[in-house]
Order: sequence, then C-alpha cells, then structure tokens
Amino acid sequence: MDDPNLIVGLERADDAGVYKLSEDLALIQTVDFFTPIVDDPHSFGQIAVANALSDVYAMGGQPLTAMNIVCFPIKTMDLSVLREILKGGLEKMKEAGLTLVGGHSIEDAELKYGLSVTGTIHPSRVVTNVGAHAGDRLILTKPLGTGIINTAIKGGMAKKESITMVTDYMTRLNKTASETMQEIGVHACTDVTGFGLLGHAFEMIQGTGKGMVFHCSSVPLFPGALDFAEMGLVPGGTYRNREFRIHQVDIDPAVSPFLMDILFDPQTSGGLLIAVPGEKTEKMLRRLHEKGIDEAAIIGEVVNDLRERIGVMPKD
Ligand code: CO
Ligand code: CO
Ligand code: CO
Repeated sequence: MDDPNLIVGLERADDAGVYKLSEDLALIQTVDFFTPIVDDPHSFGQIAVANALSDVYAMGGQPLTAMNIVCFPIKTMDLSVLREILKGGLEKMKEAGLTLVGGHSIEDAELKYGLSVTGTIHPSRVVTNVGAHAGDRLILTKPLGTGIINTAIKGGMAKKESITMVTDYMTRLNKTASETMQEIGVHACTDVTGFGLLGHAFEMIQGTGKGMVFHCSSVPLFPGALDFAEMGLVPGGTYRNREFRIHQVDIDPAVSPFLMDILFDPQTSGGLLIAVPGEKTEKMLRRLHEKGIDEAAIIGEVVNDLRERIGVMPKD
C-alpha cells in the first residue's frame, strides 16, 4: 500500500499508474479496451490503440511496449474482421514507435479490443492531472463532439464527410501534443475521454481549492455537433456526466444548453487538456500549430476565486 516508489497510484483519478524504478526511470502502465464505435474494423483498431496510448501521452511519457486485449465472438463473426482490427492497431503502434510483445484473446458475445501499455518517463518529468496554478491557461488539442457525432452516425443522420472527419481525429495519436507540452513545460494535463471536457477538467481542480473558467466561443467543435445536439442526438453518457457535475458548474445564461451537452459529451480518443503557465501559452499554441495540430486552442484558464467550481462563459 505505502510503496514509496509508487508516484501515481489508485488514490488519484489520474490517467495511468507511475512506478519509480530508479532515480531517473519510472514505468507508466495503463490499460484500455472497448466495443467498436465505428463500423470499419481497420479504423476501429487504430482508434482503440490511439485511445489506449493516450493515457501515457497525457502524462508526458513515451509508450514502449503493448499487449493486445481481444474479446471476439468467433461463432458469429468472420475472423477477417479481427484480422483487420489487429492490422489497424499494429499500424498505429508502428506510428507510435511501440513494440507489440504479446496479448490475450477470449471468446465473448461482444467484440472488444484494446491494449495494455507500458511506457517510461523520468520520475521528475511526470505530468499529472493536478498541479495547475491560478493564471494557467487551458489548451485543448482536439475538437469536441465525438459522442454526439457517433450517435448521429448510428441514427443515420451524419454525412459521409462528417463520419470521415471524426473517425480521422479519433485515430490521431496525442503523441505530438505530449512531446510539445514536455518541450514547453506545463503544470498539468489529462486526456479528454469518457467524462467529457468538464468531467476531466474537474479532476484537475478537485482537492486543489482552485477553479476554472471556460470560454465557449473558443472551444473547438466538430462541424455538425451543435446541430445534432439540438436534434437530441446525444448519448446517454452525456446526461450521466452532466448529472454528476452540474451542481459544480456556474453557467452564464447566454450559453446555449446544447453547447453544454457538448462540454459534457463523452469523447473517444479525445485530445489533451493542458494547463500551461500564462506566459508560455502563446508559444505553446504556436508550436502545436506549427506541428500540424491546427485545432488546438486556448479555451479557458485556472482561477483562484471559484473554489473547485467551473464557470462557463459565452465569450472571452
Ligand atoms: Co485518460
Ligand atoms: Co484510460
Ligand atoms: Co483523465
């Protein structure tokens, strides 16, 4: 329990566990797997890997090795589907510079795929989800709305371009964003996944006495996400996320309730939310844009005067 080498463990809702091996080397460990969120098996494999690696990147680490986790309905599904998933997954692992060292598969009524990942980091370079200072500005590196767009896709409402775009973003690694934050030096980071932007933002201020303010007009959204939210094409997870946290949010009356849906929308393989020291923010944003992360934007800041609450404002 009180292992002094455990740098980040269960007690914090952080992205991955970190264990110190020596003065200059720590292990990062994480596991993630889920049911398909897109029809194309090859893309699903890529997304599952990008998603599993994201927790290592959120801590500023480098993924080293991985093991496949496969649950497959062998009696009802063609094995070629699994082959495509694993092929897509392997492509992403290659892109990440990650070595696949093994895995485990079982028969299951429902298809699931993911990875357990081992990474490394210098113990003093670990970026956790707490540590943000008042005056830090918050950068988000991918647009929001994957849950809502995926609901629209299931309902047959999304256009082909929209499906392609969201799928493409979900397959993107958070590698470059992670390397950039380590290059610049930041205070805290998390990846935005199942709890939505505001849910993960809360993990960054919980127990710190600080607050956050978000400016809606700056938040990057997938095209169509707001329209689909207005049509009620919102996944159940959005409502659960909202229910869980809404009492800690101060919403300006000018903010659209549909936009709030997006701020609570569960993301699959979402971007990083990074607390950057105020004076470094512009440089950080410029570097992200130079490296091709075009949608990265400053969407809010950390404040002293909202004790563990989040304010949502329409504009800057
Ligand atoms: Co995470
Ligand atoms: Co995770
Ligand atoms: Co997180």
